[in-house]
Amino acid sequence: MTATKPVLVSGVKPTGNLHIGNYFGAMRQLVDLSKTKKCRPFIFIADYHALNFVHDADEMRRRTRELAMAYLAVGLDPEDIVLFKQSDVPAHTELCWIFDTLTTMPYLERAHAFKDAEAKNKEISVGTFNYPMLMAADILLYDAKIVPVGQDQKQHIEYARDTAEKFNRIFKSQVFTLPEPYILPDVAIVPGVDGQKMSKSYGNVIPLFASHDELVKNVMSIVTDSSGKRPEIVYAIHKLVRGEHELEKLYAEYEGNYKMLKEFLVEDLDRYLAPMRARYEELQENPDTVEEILREGMQEARVVSEAKMEQVRRAIGVV
Ligand code: ADP
Ligand code: TRP
Repeated sequence: MTATKPVLVSGVKPTGNLHIGNYFGAMRQLVDLSKTKKCRPFIFIADYHALNFVHDADEMRRRTRELAMAYLAVGLDPEDIVLFKQSDVPAHTELCWIFDTLTTMPYLERAHAFKDAEAKNKEISVGTFNYPMLMAADILLYDAKIVPVGQDQKQHIEYARDTAEKFNRIFKSQVFTLPEPYILPDVAIVPGVDGQKMSKSYGNVIPLFASHDELVKNVMSIVTDSSGKRPEIVYAIHKLVRGEHELEKLYAEYEGNYKMLKEFLVEDLDRYLAPMRARYEELQENPDTVEEILREGMQEARVVSEAKMEQVRRAIGVV
């Protein structure tokens, strides 16, 4: 890896109970991008963002560990990326504070995420209100050029750009590089076993690291609608793991035989997921490996972000 490659920054919230919707909808794209070797990816587990909604120490530890293992298991290679925990790198919250002193309440009140939460009459923590400033710090500390996000996060990247410009203007400096959103290609919504969007909050998921037995149980519970020619939910999941050309033939041959089609889906899913599951299990048995990867990531992220903080401190006049 050379220093001239554009930096990619991605934060992932440790949401827990990963399912195949998370994988096909988000994780796979990040793995693919990092494998191109055309950029230098800094990928972090956004535990301080998650602290806005996880207030249980054991759960925080578990979710963080699971997410690190999951990303390694699905193919992020520590040789290609810097993988770390946000809370391990104090510069994120330090820079967030500095940004807080430059940003205004009305500006943050315009953030979609805040407005949505307010519209639902939710009680909003100051941390949630301020989320765009912590995210701006996450991005700007590393001179990120590329920030891969879904459409829903685009506004946050604009906040980071505005904040970088504002800082550079106020302090007559060129400390920060302006990031660009890299909008991930729209991936189809993966349906859950009941046909709604697969989501951990709907209890309709196929877990990403499900055992063969769990796959059987989950797949057999997929709702089949006999009105069409083929069971559409089964097919929609099936095409994620097997070419459509082959599937068309298979579904024509076994038309109406839902049980067989589901059995094929179990086997195809199992074949696709088994190597990831094996890597996950191996990491589970070797917690030191994960700790070591996160420690190395922390060290590298600290060096890069501390160099940026030196420039920031000089620019604002605290040193
Ligand atoms: P959940 O709905 O289970 O709470 P999250 O909101 O934590 O999932 O989603 C994490 C990431 O996974 C997001 O980037 C989201 O776009 C993606 N994702 C989640 N569910 C699906 C799905 N059913 N289909 C496609 N992508 C999904
Ligand atoms: N806000 C992002 C999300 O909800 C997570 C995130 C935090 C992030 N900091 C980031 C993403 C920095 C990209 C860059 O998914």
